[in-house]
Amino acid sequence: MPVAERLSAEGFHELDIRSAPRSAPPPEIRSPERGQAWMVRTRHFLSTDPGGCWVAEDADGMVGFVTSYTRELMWLLATYVVRPQAQGRGIGRALLAAGLHHGRGCLRGMLASSADPKATRRYRQTGFSLHPQMALSGTVDRSAIPVIEKVREGTLADIDLMDSVDRRTRGAAHGRDHEVMQRLWRPVVSDTSTGSGYAYVEPDGSVALLAASNRRTAARLLWEALASTTGQTGIRHVTAANEWAIDVGMSARLDLAQEGFLALRNMKPPAPYLHHGTFL
Ligand SMILES: CC(C)(COP(=O)(O)OP(=O)(O)OC[C@H]1O[C@@H](n2cnc3c(N)ncnc32)[C@H](O)[C@@H]1OP(=O)(O)O)[C@@H](O)C(=O)NCCC(=O)NCCS
Repeated sequence: MPVAERLSAEGFHELDIRSAPRSAPPPEIRSPERGQAWMVRTRHFLSTDPGGCWVAEDADGMVGFVTSYTRELMWLLATYVVRPQAQGRGIGRALLAAGLHHGRGCLRGMLASSADPKATRRYRQTGFSLHPQMALSGTVDRSAIPVIEKVREGTLADIDLMDSVDRRTRGAAHGRDHEVMQRLWRPVVSDTSTGSGYAYVEPDGSVALLAASNRRTAARLLWEALASTTGQTGIRHVTAANEWAIDVGMSARLDLAQEGFLALRNMKPPAPYLHHGTFL
């Protein structure tokens, strides 16, 4: 597991270096804390879906791997990486085919794609539609935060509610993923007569994942997360179907930029929904 963690940290670091503007400070490699969280997630996917997880090796050891899994009738991709020196030689093609085979009984597919042209080629060639993602970042203007009502802390007892919002927004429940997500992040819930939804909030106040039955509930949950931020923060993984999140971010005086794609098969971009990179 630590070998796979470093391989993925180095693979994405190399990509960040290649795509960073020259004027920007050099991107940092994944921290040990984020590395630990990555291993918790990956162990979970290995335990629920060993058939979706494949490794490519040469005489020197691991050169790449794919971690994919199914939830109800949806196939999802968590991590997909090949060692930088071995990229562009067809290893990724074989790995993705093995992962997709695991999801052969699924109706829909969902993954967060990097902007690496090798990744976008692979996804498009396997039938995924690529939806550009936006991100907002900056420091929240605290004077813009509205009074937040009807939001409470979530618990394991809320998993049925969360699963039902998942089915309505993205077409498949997260099921056992909620137990892991509740260990990693702070769950918050809004459940009123007019709408329900939930969000997972990271320690720095950024949203890891958010799903709601309507935009008003989604905005309330996003404001709850933004209100808990202290310094720099962000709203990631915003598709054009989620302009409500752009409106909240801009009201908080965050700046808008573009990053990567949400790749989908046989489905529209979920809304109101902010997906997570690996739990989607
Ligand atoms: C994405 C990734 C896993 C694919 O693995 P890979 O072994 O490089 O993939 P393959 O060699 O099978 O396929 C790469 C494709 O890009 C093409 N390609 C190779 N170098 C390229 C380049 N510099 N620019 C554009 N396309 C390129 C190849 O010709 C091939 O396309 P083809 O099969 O139509 O000919 C790997 O490149 C990687 O780890 N990238 C960095 C991490 C990343 O972005 N992961 C995906 C996260 S969502």
